Amino acid sequence: MNILVLGSGGREHAIALKISQSPKTTKLFVAPGNAGTAAIATNIEVGVNDFKAIKQLVLSEKVDLVVVGPEDPLVNGIHDFFLNDELLKSVPVIGPQKAAAALEGSKEFAKQFMMRHNIPTASYESFKAETLEKGYAFLESLQPPYVLKADGLAAGKGVLILQDLEEAKNELKSMLVDSKFGNASATVVIEEFLDGIELSCFVLTDGTHYKILPTAKDYKRIGEGDTGLNTGGMGAISPVPFADAEFMQKIEQRIVKPTVEGLKKDNLPYVGFIFIGLIKVGDDPKVIEYNVRMGDPETEVVMPRLQSDLVEVLLAMANGTLNQIDLKIDNRTATTVMAVSGGYPEAYEKGMEISGTEMVEGSLVFHAGTKVSDGKVVTNGGRVLAITSFGNDFKEALKQSYQNMEKIQFEGMYYRKDLGFDL
Ligand code: AMP
Ligand code: GLY
Repeated sequence: MNILVLGSGGREHAIALKISQSPKTTKLFVAPGNAGTAAIATNIEVGVNDFKAIKQLVLSEKVDLVVVGPEDPLVNGIHDFFLNDELLKSVPVIGPQKAAAALEGSKEFAKQFMMRHNIPTASYESFKAETLEKGYAFLESLQPPYVLKADGLAAGKGVLILQDLEEAKNELKSMLVDSKFGNASATVVIEEFLDGIELSCFVLTDGTHYKILPTAKDYKRIGEGDTGLNTGGMGAISPVPFADAEFMQKIEQRIVKPTVEGLKKDNLPYVGFIFIGLIKVGDDPKVIEYNVRMGDPETEVVMPRLQSDLVEVLLAMANGTLNQIDLKIDNRTATTVMAVSGGYPEAYEKGMEISGTEMVEGSLVFHAGTKVSDGKVVTNGGRVLAITSFGNDFKEALKQSYQNMEKIQFEGMYYRKDLGFDL
């Protein structure tokens, strides 16, 4: 069959690689893709939110299945667009419809969903410009640190964690009244601060059944020791060593099951990946956030551990037969280390030539912000590439990723050398 993957990150490279290895795949397209996907699929210069151009592509290339990588097109309703189009409605889309994509698109919606279905999460209240004074009073009733979240999508920047009450009040005003994050902060969720260690759980669902993929932990801060600005993710480890069988049982019973059942009860059709951001408080998991897609760079460690045919799994999701699939997972640990452009996550330059990828041995190189220009592979984004390795434990796997990373060069290249420091 012909398959289209939408997106251009390391996540999409990792998904495309697994799809390309399936005997069921005839032609594989990635739109827009990167230099890594260009080597295993046909890149098409179409943006993920250009639904009209995606329609043309699906029809002209006879695409049989679409896998949506990032959240944006899902929140914008790409799945609904397919279902409402006579020519597209028979083409399955992996990714939820717009109504359920609000689990990521609106923090308030996600909180209400969790409250409705008794899913453990931080207690919260939400405010608008009209209720600014009530927001101040609520902040005064809390202990620091204060957690302020823009309701809508804010490119990963919409969460503020502040120690000082006056600063928290000022930021609340700036979000609600001065539109700090545009329309995304017209509503702000203020929630209880949860103290613990984070991990992510990935779930596949066909809307009725579910399968749990391996857990992963990513490293979000730019600086070593988890310091400095937030990034999309500087590396990841799977499985998470502290997520033992007992803890996983709690995650499944208290969070995964009620989430999938809740979607069904609320009549929110969902065929796709659910990324549940969790925090371990004491011995108990609580939900920090839902994402309606896979994580990046978590996918670069989760997908390589999946031994089952990904296309068979995706088809079972689309057909509602996920209960008939038995996921096979590699027991080893996988780690990935992300190399980024100098300056990221603030301003950085693009177009730096990348060398050394051909010298990498015993690891996988997943491209993120790269492209082919005049026959050369050059940087084209903040996060540039990720090197994934296997080991008997995370230390062994990381050693391999770091050894190979030393072979890669581009001007301004930076990566964190302390992943796993907290485990
Ligand atoms: P989010 O965009 O909701 O994932 O939040 C970004 C980051 O903020 C998370 O990965 C956590 O590190 C942190 N965070 C969010 N909510 C809380 C909370 N209630 N308590 C503590 N940390 C939080
Ligand atoms: N690595 C975090 C994310 O994909 O949102």
